Amino acid sequence: MNTSPRKIKFAILGFRPTRFGIRGFATPTEDGGWEPIPGVEFTASADLSEDACRDSRERFGFKRTYTDYRELLRKETLDAVLITLPTFMHKQATLDCLAAGVHVLCEKPPANDYEEILEVAEAVEKSDKQYMFVRQSRFGAAAQATRKLVVSGKLGTVYAGETKWVRTRGIQVRGDSWRTDRSKGGGVLIDLGIHGLDLLWYCMGNPRPVEVSASETSAFKQYAPDPSVYTADDNFNFWIRFENDAVIQGTFAFGMNQVGPKGPKKPELDHSDDWQVNKIFGTDGGIDIGGGKIVEGPSDSYTVSDLEVDPALVGINPMITQAKHFVECVQQNKKPQNTIEQAVELMKMLGSLSESARTKRAIRLDNI
Ligand SMILES: NC(=O)c1ccc[n+]([C@@H]2O[C@H](COP(=O)([O-])OP(=O)(O)OC[C@H]3O[C@@H](n4cnc5c(N)ncnc54)[C@H](O)[C@@H]3O)[C@@H](O)[C@H]2O)c1
Repeated sequence: MNTSPRKIKFAILGFRPTRFGIRGFATPTEDGGWEPIPGVEFTASADLSEDACRDSRERFGFKRTYTDYRELLRKETLDAVLITLPTFMHKQATLDCLAAGVHVLCEKPPANDYEEILEVAEAVEKSDKQYMFVRQSRFGAAAQATRKLVVSGKLGTVYAGETKWVRTRGIQVRGDSWRTDRSKGGGVLIDLGIHGLDLLWYCMGNPRPVEVSASETSAFKQYAPDPSVYTADDNFNFWIRFENDAVIQGTFAFGMNQVGPKGPKKPELDHSDDWQVNKIFGTDGGIDIGGGKIVEGPSDSYTVSDLEVDPALVGINPMITQAKHFVECVQQNKKPQNTIEQAVELMKMLGSLSESARTKRAIRLDNI
């Protein structure tokens, strides 16, 4: 008797695959193609571009394609949808999917701003469908191990985290326009900052934020194809205080005049032009999440060693682990790890950081 759960009928809205496939839902086959992960049937896809639709049929095997995602939602009988449309469409697409009665996984950021995510939260509350937002970094081996060590108390009191994602000069502002248009969800804080902030916040056990302070700069307008829509930040620095007195400080840049440390992305260079830092510090130990190292030991000496991680997660793209988790939640109708409540809190932090940078004042979050 076949006891494996039935395959979920899955659709994707916005089809722009990367070399890693489609957000972990497809894995490469030996003959150079792609196949869905177990438990998934590629039922339909939607994209404005006919080329993208053809690609989704021919390379990935989606059965039917649409240039209008609303038509897809009207015509298809689905279990779940992945939304990878541009950021400014996330809220409306999520509301449309929930209204159509399907489970939703939405790319980051879960909405354009705090007001929008409150609307999404209201819709999720009224729906009997599961909602999850994409935060693949949480599913990495080092992140999972770090959160466990923090929660177990092994690092003592975790009082600070440091996060950075920096690209040298203006390397990320030359092509896309919505990424530098604030009204369309552009800006480095919401585009890259969300990765590092959420990763540390998750690893630190999702403490409640109480105060933020931030500054932003647009330093590379001259590189943009259309400077008139360059309304967003490309350099962002912040500081967040949490209820438990821990803080996270962050620096994010689409471009910065900074020489990065030598890294694996471009081994031919003696520096890097695109690098990340994600570290947390406790009274008894600290972790470099990206480097996979832990420093600990007695007060008069210390050791640095490799972080012990779950071997089952080693070498697995966190996008795949995340996709499998979502599929399991849909099949069993259980609440996913990345909850709507966390999406609301995350957007509250991001929105308040933007506001703090704009008004040049620290903001207390107690009454928001
Ligand atoms: N989690 C991650 O690491 C990660 C990485 C990259 C992008 N993202 C997020 O994914 C989202 C998409 O990013 P992108 O760079 O692929 O954006 P994009 O501008 O390339 O758009 C994605 C696709 O949506 C299609 N599209 C646009 N408007 C549409 C419409 N009205 N109907 C149907 N299709 C439409 C486009 O043709 C394109 O193929 C963003 O929100 C971004 O923040 C997340």
